[in-house]
Amino acid sequence: MALNGTANLPLPGTVLPARPRLAKIRGRCQRQPCGLKVQAYTQNGNGNGAALADPTKFNPVLTKDFCAPWTVPESGIADALGLMASGDLFRYNRNDANSAASRAEVALSEYTGHKYCLAVNSGASAIFLSLVSAGVKPGDKVFSNALTFGAVPSAIHHAGASVEFVESTNAYVLDTEHLEKKCQECPDVRFLLISHMRGKLADMDEVARICDKYNVTLLEDCAHSLGVFWDGKHSGHHGVACCISTQAYKMLNSGEGGFMLTNDPVIAAKAIVGAGGYEKLYKKHIATPPDEVFESIGKLKIPNYSMRMSNLHAAVLIPQIAVVGDRVALCNRRYDRVTARFEVAAQRVGASMEVPAQHPKVGPCNDSLQFNLIGYSWEQCQAYLANVKARGVPVSVFGAHDNARNYRTWEFLGDLPVMAQTDHIIRFAVDVRLPPQFDNEDFDLMADCLAAGFLSIGEPEQLSKQEAPAAALA
Ligand SMILES: Cc1ncc(COP(=O)(O)O)c(C=O)c1O
Repeated sequence: MALNGTANLPLPGTVLPARPRLAKIRGRCQRQPCGLKVQAYTQNGNGNGAALADPTKFNPVLTKDFCAPWTVPESGIADALGLMASGDLFRYNRNDANSAASRAEVALSEYTGHKYCLAVNSGASAIFLSLVSAGVKPGDKVFSNALTFGAVPSAIHHAGASVEFVESTNAYVLDTEHLEKKCQECPDVRFLLISHMRGKLADMDEVARICDKYNVTLLEDCAHSLGVFWDGKHSGHHGVACCISTQAYKMLNSGEGGFMLTNDPVIAAKAIVGAGGYEKLYKKHIATPPDEVFESIGKLKIPNYSMRMSNLHAAVLIPQIAVVGDRVALCNRRYDRVTARFEVAAQRVGASMEVPAQHPKVGPCNDSLQFNLIGYSWEQCQAYLANVKARGVPVSVFGAHDNARNYRTWEFLGDLPVMAQTDHIIRFAVDVRLPPQFDNEDFDLMADCLAAGFLSIGEPEQLSKQEAPAAALA
């Protein structure tokens, strides 16, 4: 939605009529009615209660820690202490299958609806194990998003394969038209690792259709899409594997950690063995395929990559898994609040930006906010970021030269192709966390800071001037 002009603010408490939030995706407009509720402009301790959401009338600044992640519920702390007291930290250090790691696997598989689940030491380990267990061999090529986090291509690299990039849309998802074109151009590529960056899902039915048509095996990086649903089903069910991260800034926080979920018994068995379930240790899992599957996969030919999760990590995760649905609902309420207020305030200051809509089949988990600056020059974009940062809100664009989500920083891959469409999008795609520990007033102030930043950069320049200096991208 391009916001220009200085329309009056609706009264607090007014429900705006359902209006389309426009996301222009490759020349198309995706319409999604949103019926945003305008929040009351309450006092926030800034001494400017009545003027809030009108950054022309006050100077919003936020002084809060954006790094504070989800905390561990009391029962998780108690269980972790108990494990430390007993020394029972290794998941296989008992005679039965009822370790904390096994119980975390059962809990997560019940939440996502997958049959099998493996707890590992990171999200990237889950991706790596899913790739090798699905049959990726050294020298293979794997399609993947040009817009994602560097750990994703790194996992492909770790498996000895190389990456064939697919462009992203300005809604930050894999461009399915480009995927189909790549499938036609590169018939030797047999795998797609799709990354649901920032919890945004591409049209997954279309992705699955293309993969079926070109005989491409689909794997899903759901590091950011725990709690995101497609057509009522948890994300990660279109592909043969669903990979979750529990690194600190995710919906589940164990500092480091991850899970691989699947309905495929052979992939599950291979991943369990590859993670370090040697000899007959697979018997000490619960969300696992029957023993005969393990005896049929040639397990002695699978290296032990030692990627197991410890019981300590699992113990702090179990009570978090129990409340993940509540966390998702809280995130979505806050996102709606901050987005509604930001859009209204941005409109007031004459900003030109859009908050892309998700596909209508997506049940979101909005734990962060992204929006596109429209029509501004690279210099204006930099000035905007600097102004908002100075207000205490750590914003960045995916395309910054040192941002690990900018594919140009993935030099470990060797020669990098130029992904012109993704380049164009990531230069002006602003990314900001919505910290779990913030309260409503913090989010209101954050929205006002994001809007106030536009006051420092003037009218947007022509779209044709949007090219970033090459040096800024390299
Ligand atoms: C999109 C995405 N995929 C995968 C990963 C890998 O997760 P981990 O850090 O747990 O290895 C991350 C990490 O932040 C990520 O952002």
